Amino acid sequence: MSNQRAKLVVGNWKMHGRLAVNAVLLEGVVRGAQALPQDVRVAVCVPHPYLAQAQALLGGSRVAWGAQDVSVHEQGAYTGEVAAGMVADFDATYAIVGHSERRAYHGESSEVVAAKAQRALEAGVTPIVCVGETLEERESGATGQVVGAQLDAVLAVLSADEAARIVVAYEPVWAIGTGRSASSEQAQEVHAFLRARLAAKGAQVANVPLLYGGSVKPENAADLFRQADIDGGLIGGASLKAGDFLAICAAAAAGADIAG
Ligand code: PGA
Repeated sequence: MSNQRAKLVVGNWKMHGRLAVNAVLLEGVVRGAQALPQDVRVAVCVPHPYLAQAQALLGGSRVAWGAQDVSVHEQGAYTGEVAAGMVADFDATYAIVGHSERRAYHGESSEVVAAKAQRALEAGVTPIVCVGETLEERESGATGQVVGAQLDAVLAVLSADEAARIVVAYEPVWAIGTGRSASSEQAQEVHAFLRARLAAKGAQVANVPLLYGGSVKPENAADLFRQADIDGGLIGGASLKAGDFLAICAAAAAGADIAG
């Protein structure tokens, strides 16, 4: 059973790309996206130095762009950091916050992730808040506890109005870049759980887009996207190939599950 919420598919390039290859990829995505049904929203989150390029090549198209991280600080002596306001200067619609790679390799706690979500919202950028459990946590039955706590930390610092403006991405750590996606049933189960947590924050929060991420491919996208509480995807590896990314976007279109 699908749902009435518009689908959103976001590419996460991670630390990939150079000017020349980006241009080919972005132009391919823009061209292909023209043929997508209007009910699918599309975006790509690029490394910070390429925000200007994304703005130049995607501006005026139906493909939005965003960053992969923002600082917890507004400005100041924080060498190497990038503020949400800087990202907003390039008309970024989104900023991923709390990706598991940042939690794992850069020691980001859920409190840090919450502060980043706040800075993004203040700058007019929509935070895509990532949550997800490790394999060990799943096998020990702690999935709900882990992702619930990760989401709660963000909801705790936001008003209901602010919380209604976020996007949440469920990305099981064991499924990221491994080729091993969660099954549609596994993903839907966690999405329903997250949906209930969001609903507890307020009626308008219940409908925030809930994306699934972790080894989404053209082959498994339609099955994932037809689940009741899956509103789209956060796509890593497959977003680096225009054809694969566009096929995933097409799978998000209403009726794609019936046709496919
Ligand atoms: P993947 O990455 O699609 O390559 O598994 C998803 C992500 O980390 O956002």
